[in-house]
Amino acid sequence: MVQNMLVLGIESSCDETGVALVRTRAQGVPELLSHALYSQIEMHQAFGGVVPELASRDHIRRVIPLAQEVLGTAGCTLAEVDVVAYTRGPGLAGALLVGAGVACALGAALDKPVLGVHHLEGHLLSPFLSEDPPEFPFVALLVSGGHTQLMRVDGVGRYEILGETIDDAAGEAFDKSAKLMGLPYPGGPHLAKLALEGNPAAYALPRPLLQSGNLDFSFAGLKTAVLVQSQRMVAAAGVARFEDLPREKQADLAASTQAAIVEVLLKKSLAALKETGLQRLVVAGGVGANRDLRAQLDAACAKRKVRVHYPELHLCTDNGAMIAMAAAMRLQSGSQQASRTYAFDVKPRWPLDAIAQ
Ligand code: KG4
Ligand code: ZN
Repeated sequence: MVQNMLVLGIESSCDETGVALVRTRAQGVPELLSHALYSQIEMHQAFGGVVPELASRDHIRRVIPLAQEVLGTAGCTLAEVDVVAYTRGPGLAGALLVGAGVACALGAALDKPVLGVHHLEGHLLSPFLSEDPPEFPFVALLVSGGHTQLMRVDGVGRYEILGETIDDAAGEAFDKSAKLMGLPYPGGPHLAKLALEGNPAAYALPRPLLQSGNLDFSFAGLKTAVLVQSQRMVAAAGVARFEDLPREKQADLAASTQAAIVEVLLKKSLAALKETGLQRLVVAGGVGANRDLRAQLDAACAKRKVRVHYPELHLCTDNGAMIAMAAAMRLQSGSQQASRTYAFDVKPRWPLDAIAQ
């Protein structure tokens, strides 16, 4: 049994640099000792989305100071680290290369093994960082900026995809709709905030694939419907832009958009629970921070005596803690060993069900 191992985790797949330190235990889930995060959101906001080259350069600036901060907070030295873990994919190639390069350089310099982690496995296992961690098996709803998947999870590395999006992810649907409404990047949280003031039944937007009979998703049509609706509203009011409409009209479209996305995620999650017969649901990824989604899942699952687990709100979006945690859980469960091969590669595209157990 792998115990008392210090794992340093580095996340750099997109626009957040995250570093964390966890310790494996003889029993139970590994313990998070410290973590630190730097978000590049402000830098990318001026461009309306992530600029990959700027992201890579900024990761280079942040990663070492963050690692020093994490070690300092935990009262540990670099020499005490047993394994250096990093996000190997999926994500932006240049951004991934920074984390992988730094992790492998640290490993080589310290003569410690390294371990490349799948970013989505990090999200998937992030609820184990909460006070009330889930138990296997469970159904997982993974809703991030780039992925929307329903999975059956039987253990660390034992993931079966039940359904996934055939086009846009739920996070993308939030972000693209928000952009149409003139909201800043990343649109999800801004749209959710505006939706609080609106009527979710104001506009009838499509619920794609709701009646498809399978567990797949499609959100590209919703974005088009939001575009058409917003153009209609602008024309009817005789204004130049959506942002010039009365705030309650804007809020109504935001609320209607959120309601469409949430209803699809809710109904498909319930169908996955029914299909698998499991009584436990884990929600992970950035969209898992959405309060309306949480409220609706909580209410529906309470009725069906299903336990729902979420990551803590601040660990829903990208962070280093989930990468260190996923690496520690892989080591602790024996599903993977760290390696002293420092010739790293990154995997910008990497299906989760393709990872070795
Ligand atoms: O998991 P994540 O940090 O990044 C990826 O791995 O893709 O997820 C980011 C996504 C973005 O699309 C963002 O708009 C969305 O999560 N998001 C939200 C909320 N907070 C973040 N969407 C809806 N409501 C929120 N409160
Ligand atoms: Zn992510």
